[in-house]
Amino acid sequence: MDARELSDLEHAFAESQPSPATPLAANFRFPDGFLWGAATSAHQVEGHNVHNDWWAWEQAGRVATPSGAACDHWNRFRSDFDLAQSLGHNAHRFSIEWSRIEPEEGIWDETAIEHYREVLLALRERGIEPVVTLFHYTMPQWMAARGGWENPKIERYLARYAEHVLGRLGPHVRWWITLNEPVVQVFKGWLLGQWPPGRTRAWATALKVLRLMMRAHVRLYHVIHAFRPDARVGIAQHALALSPDDPRRWSDRWSVKVRGHLFNHLFIEALHTGALRVPGLFWERLPIARTLDFIGVNYYTRDFVRNSGYNLAGLVGDAEAAGDHRQQRGKLNDLGWEVYPEGLAQFLREYSRYKIPILITENGIPTQRDDDRWVFLFMHLWQVARAIADGVDCVGYLHWSLIDNFEWADGYKARFGLIEVDFATQERRIRPSAWRYAEIIRRNEL
Ligand code: GAL
Repeated sequence: MDARELSDLEHAFAESQPSPATPLAANFRFPDGFLWGAATSAHQVEGHNVHNDWWAWEQAGRVATPSGAACDHWNRFRSDFDLAQSLGHNAHRFSIEWSRIEPEEGIWDETAIEHYREVLLALRERGIEPVVTLFHYTMPQWMAARGGWENPKIERYLARYAEHVLGRLGPHVRWWITLNEPVVQVFKGWLLGQWPPGRTRAWATALKVLRLMMRAHVRLYHVIHAFRPDARVGIAQHALALSPDDPRRWSDRWSVKVRGHLFNHLFIEALHTGALRVPGLFWERLPIARTLDFIGVNYYTRDFVRNSGYNLAGLVGDAEAAGDHRQQRGKLNDLGWEVYPEGLAQFLREYSRYKIPILITENGIPTQRDDDRWVFLFMHLWQVARAIADGVDCVGYLHWSLIDNFEWADGYKARFGLIEVDFATQERRIRPSAWRYAEIIRRNEL
């Protein structure tokens, strides 16, 4: 590439490196069998998921743009997987939509199960290992009407759904993710009110929901292993890098610790140790410890944290992705999130303390500038390489996302895809960054 073509990000990266060729910047080999690919979730790509709570939320006008036909991936999965195959992907993460499998309580739609069987066979035929999420934010409307995550019975309903799925699809899938980003869902749904069920500052309920999510995971872990003893079961944990708004203020530094524990560690630590601890608030035992066979990490960005008091909310503090603060900050993406690659290596190291494999289940950038996507990808893979060289057991990297899709409350303007989607015509176009990523995959080397 010509020097003049370098994007801002590339310049920033080049300037931050001590020399043009540090030993890890060139010819780093990834472990054999490394999982390479991309991720999606049902509601964001399939289209017309009319039976779930997000659809109802959209129809009620709670977001600017409804999901509608999304990427019509429900009908186009084969050609989308052809593209993934042409890009050399050997793994693909997607989610099964509970509301398609069980649109009414206790009514099972066998055509939906059959659909997902075909999805799995299509992946296998293309030499692509499936990584399947059972619950990626959305639930059937009937479950939401019964209180959703606030109803302790959700554990049993989810287990029944999982038994149904595992009984039919278990033989095709080894890698399972029970819940996607439980802490983010609680934060957006019970504290910020941006996602269903739209509660704000409901701290006590938020903690109750978190506990129910943990118990649900433990239950699902057993259901999956009962059907498939060799399964590898994990959650997808959102890892959000945090820095104090003002590093000289001890209260900001304290808030970074509290927020970091709640956001990035609490859930995983509880599942691993079997004890849920919120210092000063409560302590509870889960039915069993060690219900993670791997840790799925979704990593995007860093926030700056400002303490706002000494109750729980104040200690968690206020976070700003793009706000005014006194620190040096990296370039911002189209949603205003900072590009901060070092955070990924930091989390890979932090999570390696649990001594179980780590799979990067999401990492990506919403941007209209594909050069920025390529630099983002390269810089983050460089951090993965660093961590692996330091001994971290990272088994794969799944980019978010395979195709542009419905970005929840942000609708369709956030372009995360390795493949561009024209939502008017449903045409796909492979972006240059995807071909460059394919080259790294082909060589298994950076
Ligand atoms: C994650 C989420 C995905 C996707 C992505 C980009 O938090 O699991 O569904 O939306 O963020 O924001």
